[in-house]
Amino acid sequence: IQRLKGRDFIDFKDFSVEELEYLLSLSMTVKKKFKAGELYQPLRGKTLGMIFTKASTRTRVSFEVGMYQLGGHALFLSGSDTQIGRGEPIADTAQVLSRYVDGIMIRTFAHEDVLELAKYASVPVINALTDLHHPCQVLADILTLHEHKQTLRGLTVAYVGDGNNMAHSWLMAAPKFGLNIRVASPKGYTCDAGIVAEAKEWAKQLGTEMIITEDPVEAVQQADVIYTDVWASMGQEAEQQERLRAFQGYQVNEELCKHAKPDYLFMHCLPAHRGEEVAAEIIDGPHSVVFDEAENRLHVQKAILVATMA
Ligand code: CP
Ligand code: NVA
Repeated sequence: IQRLKGRDFIDFKDFSVEELEYLLSLSMTVKKKFKAGELYQPLRGKTLGMIFTKASTRTRVSFEVGMYQLGGHALFLSGSDTQIGRGEPIADTAQVLSRYVDGIMIRTFAHEDVLELAKYASVPVINALTDLHHPCQVLADILTLHEHKQTLRGLTVAYVGDGNNMAHSWLMAAPKFGLNIRVASPKGYTCDAGIVAEAKEWAKQLGTEMIITEDPVEAVQQADVIYTDVWASMGQEAEQQERLRAFQGYQVNEELCKHAKPDYLFMHCLPAHRGEEVAAEIIDGPHSVVFDEAENRLHVQKAILVATMA
């Protein structure tokens, strides 16, 4: 689809059902070529600037390796070693980088900073996680789900835990892929009300189910996927202890998973904390597909890079 060329990839809300289906099918194509050992380098001579003001293992490695495999080059730009960390305005950074690189990937705290970057950049901007959204991860998760279930429409994803960036991206993406979504979080740690309202509109329009609850058992009842994420995200380290207490009863363990479909999948974006949001027996057990999700980051991001930059 030519219309994705030059576009940013920041939030699922900016994409139509058709565009997302195209990205998913392009991910499958790109993955197949890679697995077949086919040389596929539509980004020869292109450079991706990767800004990180937060830590990363998967995102950094998969974007950097992905650019290399596509024939291009990736630059790691740490917030603290660039002028960004010394307060150079985002608008200036965006305009300067746009003179050098063909695309910018950014992982940072405030979502508004990514919107600001995109506003002033003349090249595509890819959101590689903000405090509000993590769309690359959810696209990889959806590819993983499709690979394991051969379908998406009508499946139910139950997210148990913090109403954070992962939960938000799931809420925004699920209806557009025909997935039902349920989110169970404790009081005080629920999803952003604005995002919930917007996602509910999409669910209504597209005829999918959306349940927001405090009850993990209600969420996972007959679910096809149980998803969780850390209780304290990057930037919330100081709240660790308080959060450990607040999330008691929200651990994904055998007891909770008994309520899901017998062939449910367990998913987690990683990194994980065994014994906190998930019991070791689940994440290391037969239902877990967490390393497939991690692998698929590479393939979906290559598709995003090709669609927006080639
Ligand atoms: N899931 C994910 O984004 O991992 P990293 O923080 O390691 O990039
Ligand atoms: N919610 C987590 C996701 C990490 C990939 C965080 O923001 O730290």
